[in-house]
Amino acid sequence: MSNDLFVQETHLIYRLVSDETLLVNSISNKWYRFNQVGALIFEHLKEPSSIKQVVDKLSDEFAFDEVSPEELFADVSEFVQYLLEERVIRPESRPAAPKGFIRVDDWRDELDAVGIELGIPTWAKIELSTACHLHCAHCYIPAPERSLKRELKVVRQEKELSDDEIYSIMDQLADMGCLLLTLTGGEIFLKKSIFDIIRYAHERGFVLELFTSATPLTPDKISALAELNIGRVQVSVYSHDAKIHDDFTGSAGSWARSVSAIRLMAEMGLHVELVCSIVPDNYQDLIRIRELAESLGASCSYGYPITARTDGNPDTHSLRLNKEELRHAIFAVPNFFAMPEPKAKTARICPAAVNMCSITSSGDILPCSQFNLPAGNVRDGQLAEVWRNSPIFSKLRSLRMEDLKSPDGAELPGYVGLCPGLNLLEEGDFLTPAAITVETTRAVMDVIEDPSVDEEIHYRLTHPDETRMRSES
Ligand SMILES: C[S@@+](CC[C@H](N)C(=O)[O-])C[C@H]1O[C@@H](n2cnc3c(N)ncnc32)[C@H](O)[C@@H]1O
Ligand code: SF4
Repeated sequence: MSNDLFVQETHLIYRLVSDETLLVNSISNKWYRFNQVGALIFEHLKEPSSIKQVVDKLSDEFAFDEVSPEELFADVSEFVQYLLEERVIRPESRPAAPKGFIRVDDWRDELDAVGIELGIPTWAKIELSTACHLHCAHCYIPAPERSLKRELKVVRQEKELSDDEIYSIMDQLADMGCLLLTLTGGEIFLKKSIFDIIRYAHERGFVLELFTSATPLTPDKISALAELNIGRVQVSVYSHDAKIHDDFTGSAGSWARSVSAIRLMAEMGLHVELVCSIVPDNYQDLIRIRELAESLGASCSYGYPITARTDGNPDTHSLRLNKEELRHAIFAVPNFFAMPEPKAKTARICPAAVNMCSITSSGDILPCSQFNLPAGNVRDGQLAEVWRNSPIFSKLRSLRMEDLKSPDGAELPGYVGLCPGLNLLEEGDFLTPAAITVETTRAVMDVIEDPSVDEEIHYRLTHPDETRMRSES
């Protein structure tokens, strides 16, 4: 083995962050974090190298005073063996392994933990455009900003990020250690340059998450996506019933197009998640929607509550559930509404500005896409500068659960769906829990405290899913 040559596998996604390497192996969908020496060994295997060559290079770079040459050789051999077993490297004589498919959810917690520990945005979101061809009743983007009418399109395009600006943001994020990039809209696949943008992100070593209605996706486009580092495609579907969905999106035929795209993406191996905002039109069908997702080979998650529009217009509140409807939904999908473990008083409220940030289509830098508190604009300077020095981001990083103002002086064991961004939108203050959050939490507690409630429902409401999206399964 000592003279054999080894080389990195082809389908690896990695970032060097503070002397460490974060790596996702898209052959096996496994996540790794290599320390400084591990990162160097991995780096030296970019070119075909023997263990002896790697040891020689390491010895030039480090003074291994405490380790004899024999021990160093044995340690490197052991690590190389490990990398071989994990299919991170291969013997040079063997062909590269074929690309597999990545599932972000399988290593997202680890990615978040690194971001929190190192103080870097390991996850970022870019809103590419607010344009959309659908007319969903609940859409938080105000209708004029979505409109494809010529005169409104001209106004929008004047404000929106150009492709070059999007590439520059990606470059900056990559340099900051960001590995997971979510692209959202509007409808991202209406953008003429979308495949250039996705390919650029792929080349810059991001794992991508795409939020879309999937209606513009043709089989050719789906085949192209399957070749790239897509870790999840999240597709919004509001009913198992085509008519209910089409009425909600205001677009005849949209259900059929979304559903056939989901089926094809799943057949090609992409991780697709069907996401359904819970509204009065579908709260009775939540299990059937999950069954639809399963039949298509997709996972399923839900969204609640419907928020006001980004211009503050609360007309969308009419799409929230009343008390009885909410109770029905809680019984139907208890995992989604599960009461989170109460957080310690000194725990952080949420990851906004801690290990994530979001860029709007006009370049504003937000702590999170739902937190409309711009810390700067990418057109005014470097993203890294804002990330490090923004007083808003610093303030958010310092927030702890004990800083929240308790509603009506009442103590709640935890909050279902607590979100400082929603607090700001609804209450004008990110530390005052939104009334809808308190209402939802109380509705869940009522069910938990009801002695006549079935044991399984009780169990599911009190044992929150470990997964971030609280998928109902
Ligand atoms: C704005 S859309 C953009 C991506 C794509 N057009 C889509 O619909 O999936 C992102 C997600 O936000 C959800 N959404 C839109 N308006 C909302 C609102 N007022 N409250 C909560 N979720 C909303 C949509 O259902 C969708 O899942
Ligand atoms: S498809 Fe997405 S962006 Fe378009 S109207 Fe619906 S929610 Fe809004």
